[in-house]
Amino acid sequence: MFRHQALAALLACSLITPLALADAKKDGEMLKLASTSGCMTCHSIEPGKPGPDGMKPIGPPWTDVAKQYKGKPGASEFLTRVVLEGSNPYSSHWKGKVSGLSMPPNAVAITEGNARLLVNWILAL
Ligand code: HEC
Repeated sequence: MFRHQALAALLACSLITPLALADAKKDGEMLKLASTSGCMTCHSIEPGKPGPDGMKPIGPPWTDVAKQYKGKPGASEFLTRVVLEGSNPYSSHWKGKVSGLSMPPNAVAITEGNARLLVNWILAL
């Protein structure tokens, strides 16, 4: 009985540890990609951080984006397009919640492949 429990614990550890490490590595890579692509001038990962001069943040915190879109069909493709092409100031998805009127197109700063990688990571936050 005891041996079984020990074995199960060992198995659980060996399964969990490499996954957590892989997550940390991925998080680091994605954060680096986000800052070299200029996203972090307007976005934070988590809410609570004010924007410049204590105003509302310029863009929505990414955990809020995840909450809003997680599990919605086509979210990954839709958001990748918004990131590359920019958002429409006349139909803001975050009206009143952020100080930025719209997101400028980011296609000059990030490739489509990298934008998709970032969006999928954001959706999993
Ligand atoms: C100049 C400021 C700025 C930059 C730079 C910027 N964003 Fe945004 N972002 C915004 C604003 C403002 C919104 C809210 C748009 C709205 O109200 O519809 C937004 C919205 C978003 C959304 C949600 C879109 C939606 O339709 O709900 C995602 C995802 C996003 N940004 C990701 C990114 C990524 C990834 C980058 C970097 C490649 C980036 N942003 C760079 C300002 C910015």
